[in-house]
Amino acid sequence: MRKKVFAANWKMHKTRPEAVGFVDELMAAGPWSGEAELIICAPFTALAELAQRMHNTPVKVGAQNFYYEPQGAFTGEVSASMLKDVGCTHVIIGHSERRSLFAEDDGVLHLKLKTALEESLIPIFCVGESLEQRQAGEAEAVVRKQLTAALGELFPRPDQWMIAYEPVWAIGTGVTASPQDAQAMCKFIRSWLAERYGLANAAEIRILYGGSVKPANACELMILPDVDGALIGGASLEPLDFAEIVRRGSLD
Ligand code: PGA
Repeated sequence: MRKKVFAANWKMHKTRPEAVGFVDELMAAGPWSGEAELIICAPFTALAELAQRMHNTPVKVGAQNFYYEPQGAFTGEVSASMLKDVGCTHVIIGHSERRSLFAEDDGVLHLKLKTALEESLIPIFCVGESLEQRQAGEAEAVVRKQLTAALGELFPRPDQWMIAYEPVWAIGTGVTASPQDAQAMCKFIRSWLAERYGLANAAEIRILYGGSVKPANACELMILPDVDGALIGGASLEPLDFAEIVRRGSLD
């Protein structure tokens, strides 16, 4: 039985007071029993304060990025150990905005994945095809290539990482993948995992769906057999919307 995961991806939103206000409202909207895993992926500047505030609660704090080198002359970058130092447990890797706006390619993503695993940060590794690729019937091939290239020789245990399927055309657009398409791709990812890591291992790895998840569609997406949670952008900025997604998405 895979525990559901609900991860907020705040992107470049929220100052420290806004971040603290959010988690205070989220906690008040609980109680959160720990039956589902809640992760807030915040901007770097809010991480330390959020992690302190969420200490001894079921809510975990994640980053949206880091650099794979341990330290050195990399102006503007933040290392995995710095993230752990401020209390982060998770990090998003391979988000389509990092791939397209910041030119992160498969080679860089492989190094990030490898470093995060070595440093015991749990990657939320994102994959997903563009609209053109889907229309050309290439969606599965694209996702397979993203997984194969980033994983390389890595063999993480199921509890060391999770995957998020985020079709690029569904991110921030208000257009969600249909439950059929979301399930088909998450099933495809699980069968790829089974081929590579064995059935038992694949059965334990959490696969999230991301792309315009909101309270109104959380139920129909989260109930799908191969979907184990959600990575939520826009709708995660409002604590009550996020809380509602967790609540509706946790119903079995
Ligand atoms: P969205 O973003 O929920 O606003 O579509 C999802 C994401 O980018 O992770």
